[in-house]
Amino acid sequence: MGWLRRATPTQLEHSLPKLVHTDRQTAGRGRHGRQWVGQHDGLAFSVITVASPKLLSIAVGVAIAETIEMLAGPTCVRLKWPNDVWISGGKVAGVLIERYADTRTNSQNVFVVGIGCNVNSYPNHHTFDEVAVPATSIAQATGRIVDRTEMLHTTASRLIEVIHEAVEDPADLLQRFESRCVLRGSMVRCQVGGQPIQGICEGIDAEGNLLIRNDHGLHSCHSGEAQRVRMAN
Ligand code: BTN
Repeated sequence: MGWLRRATPTQLEHSLPKLVHTDRQTAGRGRHGRQWVGQHDGLAFSVITVASPKLLSIAVGVAIAETIEMLAGPTCVRLKWPNDVWISGGKVAGVLIERYADTRTNSQNVFVVGIGCNVNSYPNHHTFDEVAVPATSIAQATGRIVDRTEMLHTTASRLIEVIHEAVEDPADLLQRFESRCVLRGSMVRCQVGGQPIQGICEGIDAEGNLLIRNDHGLHSCHSGEAQRVRMAN
């Protein structure tokens, strides 16, 4: 956000989309106020861009998954709603999307899309908010070493393409997410309107919300996170 705050309205208008990358991350931020601990052989970068908020989060997850499949494929990259990227039961990449608002400019559709990805390292399990999240990397899950510079530039340009595709053909984008949806068919728990809801995940709706069915009907979860619920035997 530092570059954004210093940018004049003219710079902002002419420089977007902009890729901001760091080689040494000291205080990585994750979703919901958590910490993001980047791997030494990973990637930490942000793409600052103009986008429609509709399906942005879905588009970012799909762009990362498709880039990994292109550079490290053949491999099956899955998405855990809204946009965590998983391979072989472990998280390889996380996304933090923040809206930028500046009273000097009409910047309401400027977003900072922060992406952290474990590329060639062998991470230990991460723990976020007392929930153990198994972490992996592209190398660990696929056995392939990916060039980080290529991964950085390919992800950034793919992201801009997919953001446009979200507007031009949203149904196709939703299908690309659905085909990778980790939670579909699982018992999940999340918050809907401040209330905890538990039920079977039926994928996502046309707005990119997570659909959960239980005895009370079909519920649509539009923010936060969903946890898979382990069923007792
Ligand atoms: C998550 O899974 O909770 C989101 C992780 C997002 C990490 C990226 S790394 C680049 C950008 N800068 C940060 O401090 N966080 C995001």
